[in-house]
Amino acid sequence: MSHFGMPSFDYLGEQIQTVLSEPSTPHGLARALRHVAKEIELHRYHHATERAWPDGRIDQKPTKIQIGGGTHRVDGFFNIDAVPPADLLWDVREGIPLHDETVQLIFSEHFLEHIDYPRSVKNYVREAHRVLRPGGQIITGVPDATFALSQYPGPLDPGDEMVERWYAKRSCRPDINTRLDLVNLVFRDQDDDPKYTPHLWAYDYEKLVQLFTEAGFATVEPWTFDPKIANGKRRWGSVYVVASK
Ligand SMILES: C[S@@+](CC[C@H](N)C(=O)[O-])C[C@H]1O[C@@H](n2cnc3c(N)ncnc32)[C@H](O)[C@@H]1O
Repeated sequence: MSHFGMPSFDYLGEQIQTVLSEPSTPHGLARALRHVAKEIELHRYHHATERAWPDGRIDQKPTKIQIGGGTHRVDGFFNIDAVPPADLLWDVREGIPLHDETVQLIFSEHFLEHIDYPRSVKNYVREAHRVLRPGGQIITGVPDATFALSQYPGPLDPGDEMVERWYAKRSCRPDINTRLDLVNLVFRDQDDDPKYTPHLWAYDYEKLVQLFTEAGFATVEPWTFDPKIANGKRRWGSVYVVASK
C-alpha cells in the first residue's frame, strides 16, 4: 500500500497481468487494461527519476536535448525519453525537468503525436519555451497528415509507396485495405499494440505553426531535413518546423 492508503501502482500492475492472463477476459476490458499496464510501466521509470530529483529539476544543464528519441541517438544531444535507452527517463507529459533558459536546441521527431492533445501537447510546447534560452530553437518533426490526406480519395494501389515504406513489415499490413485505412493509421497508429504508445493527434504545417506561435515563439519556419540530426527513415512523409524563441 502507498502512503495515500491506495493500492500501489506495482500491486495494480500485478493484478492487471493476472486478469490479462485469463483467456476469459473480454476483449474490450483487456484492451483498456493493456493501456493501463503500459502507463504503469512508464510511471515506474518516471517515478524512479522523480525520486532522485523531487523538485522536478535535474542538476545537469544540457544545452542540446532530444525528446522522445527512442533508439535514435544524436551526437552531443542529451536524450530524454519515457523508456530506455535514454540519458534521462522522464514522462514529458509531466513537464521538462530542466532549468529555465538553459537549453540552446531541442530536437524531437515522431514524438509529439504520441502525447495527448491539447493538455500534454500544449504543456510540452510551453515547457520547451521555458527551458530555451532567448534565441534558442526547437525542431519538431511529425508524420505529415496533409501528405496522407492529399491522396484521399483515391484507390489504393497494390504497390503504394506509403504502405511499402511504413507498414510492409508490420502486422497491420493485411488490414490496410483502402486509402482511408492509411489515413486512420496517421491518426491512431498502434492503437492496440501494448509495446507502443499510439498516435493521439495528427499534425500538418499549419497546426505546428499555430502551436508554437501560441506558446510565444517569435518565428516558426519549415526545417530543412538534416540527416546528421534526424532519423533517415523519417525524411519521407514527415513535416518539420523550427521555432525560435
Ligand atoms: C515513434 S518513437 C520515435 C523515436 C525516434 N524519435 C525516431 O524518430 O525514430 C516515439 C518515442 O517517443 C517516446 N515517448 C512517447 N511518449 C513519451 C512521453 N510521454 N515522454 C517521453 N517520451 C515519450 C517513446 O518512448 C518513443 O521513444
